[in-house]
Amino acid sequence: MKPSVFITRHIPDEALKKVQAVCSVDLWEDEMPPPYESLIERSRGKDGVLSMLTDRIDSNFMDAAGANLKIISQMAVGYDNIDVNAAKERGIAVGNTPGVLTDTTADLAFALLLAAARRIVEGVRYIENDQWKTWHPTVLLGWDVSGATLGIVGFGRIGKAVARRAAGFNMRVLAYSPSLTDEEAQKENVERADLETLLRESDFVSLHTPLNDATRHLINHETLKLMKPTAILVNTARGGVVDQDALYDALTNGVIGGAALDVTTPEPLRADHPLLKLPNVIVVPHIGSATIGTRGRMASMAVDNLIAGVTGKPLPNAVVVGTRGISA
Ligand code: NAP
Ligand code: GLV
Ligand code: GLV
Repeated sequence: MKPSVFITRHIPDEALKKVQAVCSVDLWEDEMPPPYESLIERSRGKDGVLSMLTDRIDSNFMDAAGANLKIISQMAVGYDNIDVNAAKERGIAVGNTPGVLTDTTADLAFALLLAAARRIVEGVRYIENDQWKTWHPTVLLGWDVSGATLGIVGFGRIGKAVARRAAGFNMRVLAYSPSLTDEEAQKENVERADLETLLRESDFVSLHTPLNDATRHLINHETLKLMKPTAILVNTARGGVVDQDALYDALTNGVIGGAALDVTTPEPLRADHPLLKLPNVIVVPHIGSATIGTRGRMASMAVDNLIAGVTGKPLPNAVVVGTRGISA
């Protein structure tokens, strides 16, 4: 009998066909994610689940899905929606999709940085509102990116890719990660800094950490106060890394200059959210990895993890190595 899997959203065709060749597939067809109860119901008795970052995969889910569940394959690099300790305790493998989305996400972080610095969205609105009367020496003035200092918080795959882009703009780059060494910083042509120095000295701060207990609200009232009053915060990591109420206060009280966000709390943000009313804020709807090529590669990687997991093989990309269903 074929292993059975639940896929919680439509994935690119090629990847879907690959799973269908090996597994009996139950596919959630809706554009909206399955509500938690449906997620559980449809996963009951399955050998594997291919999940998205919008699915809450907790211990209750794992127990309700049952003892057959061998693999949770997440189609994302971040997995803060999954209780990995609960998976570990139960011997359920967890896979993710690192690397294939690094450049695509770094591109978006840089696009947001440039858009905020040069007030691109305000400029578009200015024309839409028919305010463009003439060229003017002091209208819509932004900040130079070239020669400015960029602080990268979380110097992993994506953080490093952002630093490489910054080099092309002649930026000074400061980087902070708990395990970053001077040697590694040197190799990447950046300066290692502690978080406080980075926040004090940067004109732009870009966040690239995972969301976990150590990074939740890393950017808060206190840390925002360390930043320059003209500094721009770019977040393509997770909404929860920023205390969004503190950010709103900082943006309205001149504590920092602006923000450009791909991720928020909650997601989605509704159109009437106060943050969206601020002229110095750009928000896009969590599209960091959203290119045709990258989503195809992410789906393919997630499917490879899924198939490995349900057939008792080691995952190509494991966050948690499973023990269920591994034949001796
Ligand atoms: P990664 O290679 O694991 O890099 C994460 C970096 O964060 C590591 O260098 C890690 O440093 C650092 N870090 C961990 N805890 C930290 C802390 N408390 N303070 C500062 N730095 C800390 O991951 P990645 O592939 O670059 O992805 C990073 C995150 O981006 C993902 O987890 C995901 O949430 C987010 N993401 C978002 C999108 C999007 O669509 N917007 C797309 C892809 C990824 P150590 O090694 O020293 O711990
Ligand atoms: C997207 O946000 C990811 O973590 O892959
Ligand atoms: C602006 O368009 C210039 O020519 O300086």
